[in-house]
Amino acid sequence: MRKALRMTGILENLTAAPIGASDPDWWRQATVYQIYPRSFADANGDGIGDLRGILSRVDHLRELGVDAVWLSPFYPSALADGGYDVDDYRNVDPRIGTLEDFDRMTEAFHDAGIKVIVDIVPNHSSNRHEWFRAALDAGPGSRERERYVFRDGRGEHGELPPADWRAAFGGPAWTRVPDGQWYLHTFTKEQPDFNWDDPEVREDFLRTLRFWADRGVDGFRVDVANLLVKDLPAELPSQAELDAMDKDSGTHPLWDRDEVHEIYAEWRKVFDEYDPPRTGVAEAWVGTAERRARYASAEGLGQAFSFDLLVADFDAAQFRRIVADNLEQARVTGSSSTWVFSNHDVTRHATRYGLPPLDGRTVKQGVEWVAAGGPESELDRELGLRRARAATLFMLALPGSAYLYQGEELGLHEVADISAEHRQDPSFFRGAVYDGLGRDGCRVPIPWTSDGPSFGFGAGEAHLPQPAWFAESAVDVEDADPASTLNLYRRALALRRELQAAESLEWLESGRADVLRFRRPNGWQVVTNFGAEPVALPEGEVLLTSAPLIGGLLPGAATSWLRA
Ligand code: GLC
Ligand code: CA
Repeated sequence: MRKALRMTGILENLTAAPIGASDPDWWRQATVYQIYPRSFADANGDGIGDLRGILSRVDHLRELGVDAVWLSPFYPSALADGGYDVDDYRNVDPRIGTLEDFDRMTEAFHDAGIKVIVDIVPNHSSNRHEWFRAALDAGPGSRERERYVFRDGRGEHGELPPADWRAAFGGPAWTRVPDGQWYLHTFTKEQPDFNWDDPEVREDFLRTLRFWADRGVDGFRVDVANLLVKDLPAELPSQAELDAMDKDSGTHPLWDRDEVHEIYAEWRKVFDEYDPPRTGVAEAWVGTAERRARYASAEGLGQAFSFDLLVADFDAAQFRRIVADNLEQARVTGSSSTWVFSNHDVTRHATRYGLPPLDGRTVKQGVEWVAAGGPESELDRELGLRRARAATLFMLALPGSAYLYQGEELGLHEVADISAEHRQDPSFFRGAVYDGLGRDGCRVPIPWTSDGPSFGFGAGEAHLPQPAWFAESAVDVEDADPASTLNLYRRALALRRELQAAESLEWLESGRADVLRFRRPNGWQVVTNFGAEPVALPEGEVLLTSAPLIGGLLPGAATSWLRA
């Protein structure tokens, strides 16, 4: 056991074992750690993270105590959208590794008791996918074009796009090809949308699911799961008309159509061919709990991300309502709740919580994104991190699965100052979403050591520049500091296993509107102080606290777990 943990003495009595490898319900309360492969660890020093790098850091994740890893796309890609533009769904980008490396990595995770989830991107391929190239070559009216969404243009010579739709990262959603036709891309022009009415498209994704499941992959994260099926009349609606339509009706021409669940029912059959069944989790920014529940159904993907906490402010009333609603939903659907504060698409939560409250202002759903909540000049870094630790400790005590994003265990802040020449994210170049900064700031390679080239990420310079302050948050520095965020996460994840017997909680009277208090079935209590004034804790042994107690009181922006 590591020195720092021995010093705290807290891990000594923990005997709870990791979840069983063959337990079909392993996902229900799993802690899943998201790896953004190009920015995790670089084994060959070319500046790009790779699978061997991940392999070399399996121990970090085992010691952290996660149950599963989810890998963002590592498939061959020109990186028009960080790898979410896939050239080949059944291969590894040669800059990242080989299929053999993938197998070795998966085996190492499994040996460490950690499941592996991969990202499936079914709405669109890249424009370099062999099917899209074949579609361009084959010309209008061909079988090859039916796998995507091609249309003739409007205007006398078809010189106008079929509709005035905007793409998710700005610019038009229809692009013209040399022979005059246009194709639909909800995201960048390098990401042509598939036509999911085409049986071959459906078949091919089943093949992809089996390909990875056969290699031992345990589950799938499904990218923009609420798109895929579209119903496009001959006369297309305008963008204004689309915007005016109800996105939660199940009949919007593009988003969240009811028929999409026929696809996931087919996928479920494939998942259930395996023992234990493979799992799915939908990324679906839908408008209501009822719409989300459809993705989480046992006949479908089985689980769906709830982004409710992610878009909330650090606020007791908001947190309480969200937790209560989500637990109720889980009870009704039979799925488990999901909790997430950070991922590769949003400003890191340590930073969000140090900015002025969102107040719902910048939070949008669908093709738009969660923004930073304010300019960097207004950032209170210390408060942000303090709140992030408190929020995370609150979240890790909840029933359900917790999704963590690489680097949050170090308390990393968003990197705001990346010069335009170094930026990669299309949302930075093509539109002013994310407060104009794009998503590169949470994708900067993480620091493993306080010195050395790229802070131990690799032997060369990292593909996105790292700020000098990364040194303070490097794994080696935090490993040696008992009060570090890393050691807080390790202790919380180890203790969390003892909380997972029953998926319920009981709210307790806290006596203050800005303090939440609940009890889990094992008797442990959790108190979070969202305010500034210290608050008295219930009688009991303090197991863990996100900030030191002051005279026995829980200070502001802090959470404690207690054996009461
Ligand atoms: C998802 C991904 C995001 C990507 C988009 C298009 O929302 O999380 O990173 O840009 O889909 O694939
Ligand atoms: Ca590399």
